[in-house]
Amino acid sequence: PVPGLHYTDKGLALESVALVDIATRFGTPTFVYSRAALTAAWQNWNAALAGRNALVCYAVKANSNLAILNLFARLGAGFDIVSGGELSRVLAAGGTADKVVFSGVGKSRAEMAQALRAGIHCFNLESTPELDRLESVASELGLVAPIAVRVNPAVDPKTHPYISTGLRDNKFGVAFEDALALYRKAAASKHLRISGVACHIGSQMLDPAPMAEAAGKVRELVEQLEREGISLDHIDLGGGLGIRYKDEVPPTGTEYLAPLLRAMEGRKEQLHFEPGRSLVGNAGLLLTSVEYLKPGATKNFAIVDAAMNDLARPALYDAFHEMLAVTPRNAPPVPYEIVGPICESGDFLGHDRALSLAEGDSIAILSAGAYGMAMSSNYNTRGRCAEVLVDGDAVHLVRQRESIESLYALESILPA
Ligand code: LLP
Repeated sequence: PVPGLHYTDKGLALESVALVDIATRFGTPTFVYSRAALTAAWQNWNAALAGRNALVCYAVKANSNLAILNLFARLGAGFDIVSGGELSRVLAAGGTADKVVFSGVGKSRAEMAQALRAGIHCFNLESTPELDRLESVASELGLVAPIAVRVNPAVDPKTHPYISTGLRDNKFGVAFEDALALYRKAAASKHLRISGVACHIGSQMLDPAPMAEAAGKVRELVEQLEREGISLDHIDLGGGLGIRYKDEVPPTGTEYLAPLLRAMEGRKEQLHFEPGRSLVGNAGLLLTSVEYLKPGATKNFAIVDAAMNDLARPALYDAFHEMLAVTPRNAPPVPYEIVGPICESGDFLGHDRALSLAEGDSIAILSAGAYGMAMSSNYNTRGRCAEVLVDGDAVHLVRQRESIESLYALESILPA
């Protein structure tokens, strides 16, 4: 599923670079991204929006490496952030605040002040107390905060429960029947300016129908607001478009967007989207190497140098990531449990993978561009991976491997 990945006589290559050369030069485990694949994913979204006044705000949480943010900024992206930290990254990477939307249920006063001073495009509000807090921070600073209410359309996105966000009983957004009250409150405040409405119902969606249904409900709200004399300048339909990990057949950008655009036909507000996974997921892989092959009573283990701290998705969601041998061997494939060195049974990256392996061989774990590095940790005092970006025949180191000293540099021992 990674575009630009192919076998050559030097084994698996991404664009024009052999992955064995990356493993030799940078070591493993290393995340490897493709500039061409990132650009193609961006174009897939934007081609589908051609002719429509729209802004694609890349969901930074999926992969917040500065090089990737910078690439999207150069392509004209806006950004969907969920913390002051992500705002700092966007600005450090050359993104502009006026294309930033701020999502999330728990914005602190400090984060609100940072975003207000930076001049972001919009705060997506998720509750009445959040609206009150934002008004108070804006009035302290003598500024006006642009806002949207994130509504919860109570639509089932038909995806993994941990990544569903638009169900009635979860913590996200404001129920439709309560949204009007927030807009009235905002309209009455001189420190808040109504800018839009926002809606995001879940992630890894393979069917556009639930989001199209949600868009229909959002439109009704927009028309209700209009009757009250409240007009908006944008409508944000969130992210959530799924990708192929195994044999899923996700809609193309055009297929996903067609029913949404239909639901918004005739509306003149700018449309915003917040895709994360579909822009970066299949533009990246995790390159790892076999430490040991360990035959077991019932299963064979391939113990690799990447682990659940580097790629949490298998352990956390039982997610499937396809694996390919970087240098194929002629020996018949054997089913392996692909596991990491961490001291937990949950530390697996894949089950029952038929591969022909020897110690020292490298494996490419695919579809790791989204929620891979971004969700990694230092568990077991493991330094996080290096990240490289391939561009044609060039390879750029875009994040150094973390040194072990840096992992405890902020700690101190007790006084004598
Ligand atoms: N907008 C909002 C408000 C979100 O909460 C999310 C993702 C997105 C946009 C981007 O959604 P995407 O286009 O990437 O589906 N860690 C999980 C995914 C969590 C998604 C959380 N919200 C995973 O690895 O599958």
